[in-house]
Amino acid sequence: MTSRALDNVAKKPWAPTSWRSFPIAQVPSYPDSALLEATEKQLQSFPPLVFAGEARKLKRALSKVAAGEAFLLQGGDCAESFAEHSANHIRDFFRVFLQMAVVLTYAGSSPVVKVGRVAGQFAKPRSSPVEKHDGVELPSYRGDIINGIDFTPEARIPDPRRQIEAYRQSAATLNLIRAFATGGYASLDNAQKWVLDFVQNSPASHRYLDLIGRITEALQFMRAIGINSETHPEMRLTEFYTSHEALLLGYEEAMTREDSTHPGEYVATSGHMLWIGDRTRQPDHAHIEFFRGILNPIGLKCGPSLTPDGLLELIDILNPDNEAGRLTLICRFGSDKVGNHLPDLIRAVKREGRNVVWSCDPMHGNTISLGAYKTRPFERIQQEIKSFFQIHQSEGTYAGGIHLEMTGKNVTECTGGAKTVTNEMIADRYDTFCDPRLNAEQAIELAFMVADLIKKEKSELGTLVPAAAE
Ligand code: PEP
Ligand code: CO
Repeated sequence: MTSRALDNVAKKPWAPTSWRSFPIAQVPSYPDSALLEATEKQLQSFPPLVFAGEARKLKRALSKVAAGEAFLLQGGDCAESFAEHSANHIRDFFRVFLQMAVVLTYAGSSPVVKVGRVAGQFAKPRSSPVEKHDGVELPSYRGDIINGIDFTPEARIPDPRRQIEAYRQSAATLNLIRAFATGGYASLDNAQKWVLDFVQNSPASHRYLDLIGRITEALQFMRAIGINSETHPEMRLTEFYTSHEALLLGYEEAMTREDSTHPGEYVATSGHMLWIGDRTRQPDHAHIEFFRGILNPIGLKCGPSLTPDGLLELIDILNPDNEAGRLTLICRFGSDKVGNHLPDLIRAVKREGRNVVWSCDPMHGNTISLGAYKTRPFERIQQEIKSFFQIHQSEGTYAGGIHLEMTGKNVTECTGGAKTVTNEMIADRYDTFCDPRLNAEQAIELAFMVADLIKKEKSELGTLVPAAAE
């Protein structure tokens, strides 16, 4: 985009509602528009889920990632569901996430910015508006915030009241996560207890427990010299942030509020970080219009159809001031395509001096069909991450993060891994509401692989930073 064209976009007035006059993709059509309007009004009167100050804090943390001084770990369910909303589900996700963060912090010698795909990840873009089974065609499931997963005509009708339920569940999830993060559960003293029963005998958990043994020794030494979690609260507290794809703009608009401490600035209060999906990043469409006006840190999914010029145009619109930490590029090409696409994007961004975080989503470009199931082979997931790091190394840029679909449950959705999920096992525990997720063991195994890659990256870049306390 020329600087004049950029000036035009940047100067155009923006309001939380301005997206409504733009074309929009992936939008549900609600039969009851009066109910939709009443629901959005009700949401506007609800308390925010997160504050502007928290979103700014995450942006600062991400600016450290952009500078190569920290690593971003982002992950969680492909889609949260109303059916799976229990304390155990949230705790089991959180403990695996914490284990991964410890592995990356200690083994990778890198401070880790922790961002869950959680407490708001309900709306799903679909590759087809309809789904067919045994000759019956119905509208696609679009996530629990929009319609129901049951394959019946009634369930598939978009129902606005689901937005209230999604808000309520997000609030309850966030409340529990905040309690875990600050109430002692996330303390390093508990790192041994985070191991889930069903992973206790896996290679990944042996490696993890060995690492915790070393951390425990270090903590004992620190205690002996007077440094403990009482004198240093950062040893028992952890900073954890939420994120989701902000697909359903009516909901997002209703949750967007003016920052009372900075009049004229708006924060989307549905989550700390929001991202734009690969199917809704058209520069002249509604989603980009909405995102350009919110102050949150934002993610942009970058798939094979994104050209270097297209990316620069989006960066101009979304981050005109080149603010560090504002924009995370979440690359999801596929293990076979990353080498063809990523280098050109990196070169364009580097040439134009744009400040971004580069993150790798090794899930969405590696989905294959196995009979009636969608799966992702673990080797392809590993391969895309390895290529991502290699490419950054050759371009002299920093591979700053990973973005995963994962769960704390013992599911059999992605094939492979050290305790192999075979093709035959896939139907055993296939519970996802949308895409196949890594199970707890696979997630920890991957964290160790990434930790090795980060270590290598840091020694090559000559910026080895001391491990920060978790
Ligand atoms: C997702 O993250 O679940 C998703 C749909 O991703 P993408 O937009 O990259 O396809
Ligand atoms: Co997904």
